[in-house]
Amino acid sequence: MKANILINKNYEIGKIDRRIYGSFIEQLGRAVYGGIYEPTHPTADDCGFRRDVIELVKKLNVPIVRWPGGNFVSGYHWEDGIGDKSKRPQRMDLAWNTTEPNEVGLDEFQEWAKRANTEVMMAVNLGTGTPDEARNCVEYCNLDTDTYYADLRRKNGFEKPFGIKTWCLGNEMDGSWQICAKTAEEYGRIAVETAKMMKITDPSIELVACGSSNMGMKTFVDWELTVLEHTYDYIDYLSLHTYYGNAKNESADFLCKCIEMDEFIKSVAAICDAVKAKKRSKRTVNLSFDEWNVWYHSKGQSFEPWCKAPAQLEDIYTFEDALVVGGMMMVLQNNCDRVKMACLAQLVNVIAPIMTENGGKAWAQTIFYPFMYASAYGNGSAMRTVIECDTVATEKHGDAPCIESSVLYNEAEHEIVMYVLNRSLTDEVDLLPVFEDFGTCKLTEHVELYCDDLKAVNDKDCERVSPVNVPVGDEIKLKKHSWNMLRFALEA
Ligand code: AHR
Repeated sequence: MKANILINKNYEIGKIDRRIYGSFIEQLGRAVYGGIYEPTHPTADDCGFRRDVIELVKKLNVPIVRWPGGNFVSGYHWEDGIGDKSKRPQRMDLAWNTTEPNEVGLDEFQEWAKRANTEVMMAVNLGTGTPDEARNCVEYCNLDTDTYYADLRRKNGFEKPFGIKTWCLGNEMDGSWQICAKTAEEYGRIAVETAKMMKITDPSIELVACGSSNMGMKTFVDWELTVLEHTYDYIDYLSLHTYYGNAKNESADFLCKCIEMDEFIKSVAAICDAVKAKKRSKRTVNLSFDEWNVWYHSKGQSFEPWCKAPAQLEDIYTFEDALVVGGMMMVLQNNCDRVKMACLAQLVNVIAPIMTENGGKAWAQTIFYPFMYASAYGNGSAMRTVIECDTVATEKHGDAPCIESSVLYNEAEHEIVMYVLNRSLTDEVDLLPVFEDFGTCKLTEHVELYCDDLKAVNDKDCERVSPVNVPVGDEIKLKKHSWNMLRFALEA
């Protein structure tokens, strides 16, 4: 098969906001307890954080991590997780039917974030929570005033404010599974009143309102329109969430899922702009794709109710999942004119690129690698491309292009970085990039993620799926069902 990609220096989509390489940690399963935090672990630091996990998180170079949920946040009272640990309550977590010990709360999580070189994207509870509780949290985190919550933070040992810039107004409030789920009217009202109070408290923060839980929700579009009608002038981003799976083992279609993700983004951007026009607003509301991943292997995983930190949502990712994640990453880059933040859901143990065993090893799942390379080299401007290529036949997506790609022009580093997924299950692709107006471009590196077995996985003792460097020559060949990163040096 053949694919030609034309890139012209003058045609840019937009600048990459590095926050699209964000992730997510929920107080759920072993994400926190046994994941980032395990005081008895041999690598634990003075706060009980696992250093081996922090090292892997640093390799992913995630600039922002959403916390504490997810569904969990809709029943969470942040004051349960601050101050003297011995006085903190153990609570029933109604979202996930477990017991939350509150050993790790806001005080600890912001410290972990610093140690992992990342920022916190804080979600407030708009299920059982109140607008007042949300604004108190902003004061606790961000203010230096001589007032109750700022004083309380200082009393708890934190003289300097945490400086949390980005805040989510609840989580998936349209979902019937959500604690205190709401109609769009109900949510729109509480979201705007909460937003007002939070921004009066700290005008420098940015707010994300909940969009639909996914594109398949019956209320999708109506939900967005109503929520934006209420909140447009007070928020900065609208959220999108999506998870894909391959339960029926239809790999050709599975590798096309990122096409659906692209449609989803473009639809939500259009909805935001429709409300902008209706309101005659000068402001643009951008998008926060704050939950995305493959999620299906662990559905139905059982555990004992109300226990602490059971194994929940522990998907073991295959090689083909890594291909899908790689493709989704490209879609986020190609929509960087509207998607300013995105969170791979999640980061450790719970549908995550990083796995651990309690008391033992930490390792990289298959999906770790396309994310790592996107975050490491996907900087600068995403470029428009003109692609001519062969197609692959699929059941649900018709004849789909044999490649998915994104192209980044990194002026500062004098390089062009190209990510390409060959979605053909049978054929190699000959790739011919054509660069216009860039001067001399020389291929310097070709990283390939390939495995003959689409269902291969990594575990603590054996890494079956890991990237390799392909020797570079005059031709670029992309193996069947492979993910690739190509780096081209430009003359300085
Ligand atoms: O990431 C797992 C769950 O998926 C989150 O808690 C929720 O927001 C979504 O439905």
